[in-house]
Amino acid sequence: MLRTHYISEDEVSMLLNDVLELYGYDFTDYAHASINRRVNYLFKKDRFTSFAEFRFRVKNDKNYVTRFVEEITVNVTEMFRDPFFYTALQKQVLPVLATYPFIRIWHAGCSTGEEVYSLAIMLQEANMLHKAKIYATDINNTVLDKARKGIFPLAHMQQYSRNYIQMGGTQDFSQYYTANYEYAKFSETLSKQIVFAAHNLVTDHSFNEFQLIVCRNVLIYFNKTLQDKILHLFDDSLETFGFLALGSKETLNFTSISHKFRQLENRQKIWRKTIV
Ligand SMILES: C[S@@+](CC[C@H](N)C(=O)[O-])C[C@H]1O[C@@H](n2cnc3c(N)ncnc32)[C@H](O)[C@@H]1O
Repeated sequence: MLRTHYISEDEVSMLLNDVLELYGYDFTDYAHASINRRVNYLFKKDRFTSFAEFRFRVKNDKNYVTRFVEEITVNVTEMFRDPFFYTALQKQVLPVLATYPFIRIWHAGCSTGEEVYSLAIMLQEANMLHKAKIYATDINNTVLDKARKGIFPLAHMQQYSRNYIQMGGTQDFSQYYTANYEYAKFSETLSKQIVFAAHNLVTDHSFNEFQLIVCRNVLIYFNKTLQDKILHLFDDSLETFGFLALGSKETLNFTSISHKFRQLENRQKIWRKTIV
């Protein structure tokens, strides 16, 4: 009998081992529930009729693996997501960074870039963008291409503008983009200081020393061991007195680097590195 409805946890882990061995993408320490859901979703979406057929395709079709990577990573994002996080950045972090002659920021797991453009807008308003370099990275090349273009659906602008105002923004938000048919293209003045590049947090190394690392809603997809490993990578990539910002459901408390960091006094997930 053909079984079309789902593939088991063991089959998922077999597939993840194939992807690691053949292509070097390591999803084996991603949180089980979420990765199982995504792999099953793809199995259904691409209308495979058996696990064997799915596995054969993954093992023998290099192009399909690109699709596999893109589909099993969750790419949901928005501009000024969690507006009060940005308020905290603006009030507590940017004034410290403003005292540096040059600011290096790493935005890891940036997806299609909406968060990165939000940060660039804030830096511009604080007259700091010209002396900043933002390295925006993700494992997924397709989302990075979208991020580079800086073109987002016009239909989202109302929500983004509301987020911006809630964050404390006082300018006319529409000055940052030009509307064309159904799309909004963000100003190249904002992207001038951003370098978009592929980087895999699981397998790639540190590539610079930063004063601010933003990685929100990415660790949530990893198991504890992998979260700890990535937090070490961030620690190694952060200057003393640098800042690390995570997503609302993520923490570095109870991990092996927590003693080096002090959480800022607000309700946001922002820590400052106090010990080398
Ligand atoms: C939910 S999105 C978060 C986007 C944005 N940071 C935000 O909070 O709105 C998670 C992103 O993490 C990326 N990601 C997943 N695994 C990764 C890895 N191993 N290395 C780098 N990025 C990864 C995904 O491709 C996706 O774009």
